[in-house]
Amino acid sequence: MFVKLLSGGFLGLETYPVEVQVDISNGLPFFNIVGLADTAVKEAKERVRSAIKNSGFSFPQRRITVNLAPSDRKKSGSIYDLPVALGILLATNQASGEILKDIVFLGELALNGEIKPVRGVLAVVLGLKREGFKKFFVPRGNVGELELIKGIEVYTAHSLEEVAKGKLQRVDYKENLPKADRKYPLDFADIKGQKQVKRALEIAVAGFHHIAMVGTPGSGKSMLAKRVPSVMPPMEEWEILEVSQIYSVAGLLSGGLITERPFRAPHYSASETALIGGGSSPMPGEISLAHRGVLFTDELAEFPRKVLEVLRQPLEDGKVLISRAGYKVEFPSKFLWVSALNPCPCGNYKHPFKECVCKPSQIRRYLKKISSPLWERIDLKVWVNPVETEKLISPSQEENSRQIRERVLKDLPEEKILKGLTDLPTPMITAQLLLRKNITIQRFVIFVLKSAPLVILQ
Ligand SMILES: Nc1ncnc2c1ncn2[C@@H]1O[C@H](COP(=O)(O)OP(=O)(O)O)[C@@H](O)[C@H]1O
Ligand SMILES: [Mg+2]
Repeated sequence: MFVKLLSGGFLGLETYPVEVQVDISNGLPFFNIVGLADTAVKEAKERVRSAIKNSGFSFPQRRITVNLAPSDRKKSGSIYDLPVALGILLATNQASGEILKDIVFLGELALNGEIKPVRGVLAVVLGLKREGFKKFFVPRGNVGELELIKGIEVYTAHSLEEVAKGKLQRVDYKENLPKADRKYPLDFADIKGQKQVKRALEIAVAGFHHIAMVGTPGSGKSMLAKRVPSVMPPMEEWEILEVSQIYSVAGLLSGGLITERPFRAPHYSASETALIGGGSSPMPGEISLAHRGVLFTDELAEFPRKVLEVLRQPLEDGKVLISRAGYKVEFPSKFLWVSALNPCPCGNYKHPFKECVCKPSQIRRYLKKISSPLWERIDLKVWVNPVETEKLISPSQEENSRQIRERVLKDLPEEKILKGLTDLPTPMITAQLLLRKNITIQRFVIFVLKSAPLVILQ
């Protein structure tokens, strides 16, 4: 007896339909899955066998061959458990229902027959919808990911038994549309003083300019960076879907969509792969998880130079191409790059009252870790001075993130913003940016920009 069901697969963000073909014939008991399946798919055999038995059905003691077509595309993960099990039940007349045949089934099975969420559901559904598929069965834990997709029918159930008996629940998304009010947990009002740095960050957000904050430890750089997403414009619906798709294939959607702009802060010990993505089955890296949000590289000078260099191409193109032996995939990676770094190894260079113990050559070596092509891509460099203790502990009324965001959203003419910035005594913008924006400034500032080492930024 031969049965076929629909499913779907993905490689990076690329998706494709998969036909799960099940053939059961007489012969010695045998169960095989073919069609360029990886080890995780091969393991489906054990899960499927147990799930069928533990759901009260009998597992056929015959010759079972499952083919995942097209067989020239690599299949990975546990996404095919459910359609394989269902195919076996249909082929042995233990399940009924013609309707099951035009639904795309995605889902992992637990040994007791429960249907578990899988990664990639949002990406696969979006991709297959574009190819004309309309009906999808997804695990209950993945239902929330699909709430913004219009023009499809979504079904779900708890267990293999329910599906085999035709007890599918149609999901109605009307009630749980994403909430319009946003509450970012961190606010610029928590930061005392630092008016110039806040203004520079506002300009960075308004004009999408990469920014680096340079200053002594404890001056509030990390605190400031973490609040950047709170002044960014809310995400548009298409951005929510675009970003959530990346999180979907990474297996990082926990039940719903990503509705806040991402803030990713990889540690300086992060590997190249962690940063740009890759792995045996292609996973997005930090720069893609930061897509349409903020990538924060704290302690920038501590990152190995080789690791930082991989940022150059994505910063230029807004996407990253990952080529490995078995695949070539592309992930979007358009992020606002925010960095923080100490000015020297001891951190006290130009500190108002602490003494710097570094030799000039040590300082130069420290900052040389950031190559000049990379350094030039940072449009704004801001010096962060520590706020005095008395000011830190005295009560003060600071502007909050909502007020700053309102200015960002008004979309001031960029040139005016940048002109305003050049008037500030400490923040600096690169000559490249000024050229790009056709801004003329005084000769004196140009001199400072040309002799660019960081130490003269103050
Ligand atoms: N301007 C400020 N307003 C409020 N707290 C501050 C400010 N500057 C520093 N702090 C305090 O100092 C701590 C250290 O700041 P942090 O952002 O870690 O500094 P850095 O990253 O520059 O080393 C913060 O957690 C905060 O408690
Ligand atoms: Mg810090």
